[in-house]
Amino acid sequence: MKITVAGAGYVGLVTSAGLADIGHNVTCIDIEKDKIDMLQNGRSPIYEPGLESLIEKNLLNGQLQFTMNPEQAYSGADIIFIAVGTPEQQDGSVDLKYIHVVSHTIAHYINKDVIVCTKSTVPVGTNELIKQIIHSRKSSAIKAEVVSSPEFLREGSAVLDFFQGDRIVIGADDPDAASIMEQIYLPLKIPIMKTDIRSAEMIKYASNAFLAAKISFINEIANLCEKVGANIEEVAFGIGQDKRIGHDFLKAGIGYGGSCFPKDTKALVQLAGNAKHQFELLEAVIKVNNRQQTLPVIKAKEILGSLKNKKVAVLGLAFKPDTDDVREAASLKIIKELLEEGANVRAYDPIAIPNAKKVLGDSVEYAYNIHYALYEADIAMILTEWEQIKHVRLNMFQTYMKEPIVIDGRNCYSLEEIQKYPITYLSIGRPDVYRDKPKDELRIINL
Ligand code: UGA
Repeated sequence: MKITVAGAGYVGLVTSAGLADIGHNVTCIDIEKDKIDMLQNGRSPIYEPGLESLIEKNLLNGQLQFTMNPEQAYSGADIIFIAVGTPEQQDGSVDLKYIHVVSHTIAHYINKDVIVCTKSTVPVGTNELIKQIIHSRKSSAIKAEVVSSPEFLREGSAVLDFFQGDRIVIGADDPDAASIMEQIYLPLKIPIMKTDIRSAEMIKYASNAFLAAKISFINEIANLCEKVGANIEEVAFGIGQDKRIGHDFLKAGIGYGGSCFPKDTKALVQLAGNAKHQFELLEAVIKVNNRQQTLPVIKAKEILGSLKNKKVAVLGLAFKPDTDDVREAASLKIIKELLEEGANVRAYDPIAIPNAKKVLGDSVEYAYNIHYALYEADIAMILTEWEQIKHVRLNMFQTYMKEPIVIDGRNCYSLEEIQKYPITYLSIGRPDVYRDKPKDELRIINL
């Protein structure tokens, strides 16, 4: 089988390298020359644990190729995966321009029966559009089936997720096409669910919306915990013990970011609106998240009053650990607000500084280690729970900062540990720790 993957982003690259690794012959095509040049030399254009070595291995053993040439990629292909971007438009709806372009290109170059499988996250009904485009342009002698197989991988653990996912969804009208797709995935030994195309498209949005709702829910409980003197970590553990609820995605913090949840929740609200349904629950999830992302600034103002000319150390820029992605990261929103308040920001991230720089430019100073970020700072804000930030020696705050005041947006440290140091420490959904207050007063501070 000749497999082609259109798009060398997160989804396209992991799909290409993963399918090659389980024995398929894969060609990955992208329109960006710099990307393809890097990939042909075995280098990954994105930071994703395990991806570069997987690409290198499969390039060397001849299972994986990268190209910019559509004829080479699509002619003779048996299966074509579409993994191009589906960015957000101004009004929250999905921009399908790359889907249009790639569908037209596929239709132009295919020269034999083919299955086109959509991995990109697309609104319900989009696969029918892809089908129409391909059918309107291809020769009638060629059979082209369109199948939806949404992707559930997470940035930062995408390679692991590819090999150890919870399920594979195949949405198809044609049972033969569904069976062929099942064979492609079979070596992964992951449970496969076959369904109709529209349900497959909806499963993707509903999954992300549900996870986002879990996060906003736990964040609201955390906000309430702060007001009534409870501890969100105890509460999250207590509710997660109920198997019907589970422990995953109950980590309170400064909300969800990234290229998926913010975009997909808004798109689902739009999709519902187009179907004359107001998705009030999801609207509230989005609203809670927007507010949650600004909490560190609110807390900083509560402690320092004005932030004008205050030096703020920002620890963590990526939207979550183990990625260099800053799309919709809370850090960007927080830094923007800090700058508007007249603060001076010095930011540290182990990997994401180059990407953050593309957005923030020279408006902030970048620190290449944690010590320098903290040096002489009036306040520190932890915005991403990188391992090295979690394992910082806690006396560093005291040693390097002007005042050891820490706002921890990701609950990185245990309150017991923090209390051993003279640090003022405000986290999310847990009692505040003030360095000049005795330990036994802690539980009542927020009441
Ligand atoms: C998410 C989904 O988890 C994937 O299944 C899906 O395939 C992907 O979107 C996508 O649609 O492509 P991802 O955005 O990479 O994956 O990252 P997550 O690990 O889901 O985290 C998203 C955000 O939620 C992060 O900002 C993270 O900090 C936040 N989060 C996550 C919390 O605040 N609390 C939690 O308990 C979990």
